[in-house]
Amino acid sequence: MSNGLTANSNSQSDFDALKQRIHQRLIGKLDLNRIGELEGDVLKREIRMVVEHLCDNENTLLNRSERDRLVDEVLDETFGLGPLELLLKDPSISDILINGPKNIYVERRGKMERTAVEFRDNEHLHQIIDRIVSKVGRRVDETCPMVDARLEDGSRVNAIIPPLALDGAAMSIRRFGSNPLTLEDLLEFKTFTPEMVMLMEGAMKARLNIVISGGTGSGKTTLLNTLSSFIGNQDRIVTIEDAAELQLQQDHVVRLETRPPNIEGKGQVTATDLVKNCLRMRPERIIIGECRGPETLDMLQAMNTGHDGSLTTTHANSPRDCIGRLETMILMAGFDLPMKAMRSQISSAIHLIIQANRLQGGPRKITHITEVVGMENDVIVMQDIFRYVQDGIDENGKAVGRFLCTGVRPRCLDQLNAAGIRLPASIFQERIMMAD
Ligand SMILES: Nc1ncnc2c1ncn2[C@@H]1O[C@H](COP(=O)(O)OP(=O)(O)OP(=O)(O)O)[C@@H](O)[C@H]1O
Ligand SMILES: [Mg+2]
Repeated sequence: MSNGLTANSNSQSDFDALKQRIHQRLIGKLDLNRIGELEGDVLKREIRMVVEHLCDNENTLLNRSERDRLVDEVLDETFGLGPLELLLKDPSISDILINGPKNIYVERRGKMERTAVEFRDNEHLHQIIDRIVSKVGRRVDETCPMVDARLEDGSRVNAIIPPLALDGAAMSIRRFGSNPLTLEDLLEFKTFTPEMVMLMEGAMKARLNIVISGGTGSGKTTLLNTLSSFIGNQDRIVTIEDAAELQLQQDHVVRLETRPPNIEGKGQVTATDLVKNCLRMRPERIIIGECRGPETLDMLQAMNTGHDGSLTTTHANSPRDCIGRLETMILMAGFDLPMKAMRSQISSAIHLIIQANRLQGGPRKITHITEVVGMENDVIVMQDIFRYVQDGIDENGKAVGRFLCTGVRPRCLDQLNAAGIRLPASIFQERIMMAD
């Protein structure tokens, strides 16, 4: 059947219509039972041949590269994630944010931009979401309109559909592993200064307990990952995450992941369950990807009972707010602990708070490295050692500012010294360390 498509009249919509037609025919031809028996590569080769044959039958005047693109896109549509495949192939993309079928943004190296990629319509977007979530045994529909899932490469996915999402389904993908940022990258991006790295490295090596605090997408997990590189190879590490994202380089690591309830509401394993279990596994360091709830108290208790050198992140906007957040999470979990007892648990468990922030225009900065000093009456006392102060916005709309050293001598230097780590006193002298 000819459709009159020529190289000259070959508009995008003709191309898309042709693609859809070939896709439909392909689906009609596939023997689904046999597909399961074939190896991935053999299967793709065979299907490619079928698609090329279908293309020939269409009697279209596509040139070689158009035809290759068509075959690739039909394959992506059939086995992959349709229009998303193009974005997933690009390693410089760290986040994909889909707001309905026609409005897709990506983030590259901290900068958000809109892409030309589109889904055909709402139904098409739903299909792809279904394909993603069903692979991890979940589903998305009216009774279950919000889901977390993962792609095969480990990327984290959240999808939310109407009626909760008002303008069509929304999906957020945090890429994983494609190009993890290194310490050198973060130094180059001026996320922190070399002096700050020296303190963070010393604190990790001297087994201080550290909380990384920050808003959504501020770089908490990235920092946790980079700091973990300072852990020696001899420590037994247990990690606990909701969706495994950490990429630890050490040998002696046990990775645990929580599990949401299944469709019947059964089988849930919470972070609290895992923290409790992990304490029976003789961990030397515990890393909790993110503290969000009742596991907070278990974590603090673990930190207070000899599991020094533990690390976690939490969602807060300043070090003071981070303490408040830990308190709230403990209270909401229903633990009937007097305020003072709770605060002294927190202040004796946590040594350092590292605050991450995503500033206007995209740059991520460590805006505070703050030490938890102790208690004065009922109040937790903290002191900033390093700070970032934003001065304004440059001509590109990007925040600019300075990293300051407050001149306070960190109390934790005693612990660092005891561990044989000696930092030059000069790095803590009051001054501007670096400006953007
Ligand atoms: N210092 C940095 N400079 C530039 N980009 C960064 C930096 N840190 C992280 N990113 C990028 O920002 C995005 C968010 O990073 P990350 O996952 O570490 O944030 P998060 O605070 O853990 O987010 P969430 O709250 O969603 O868990 C990632 O795409 C990451 O590559
Ligand atoms: Mg994170």
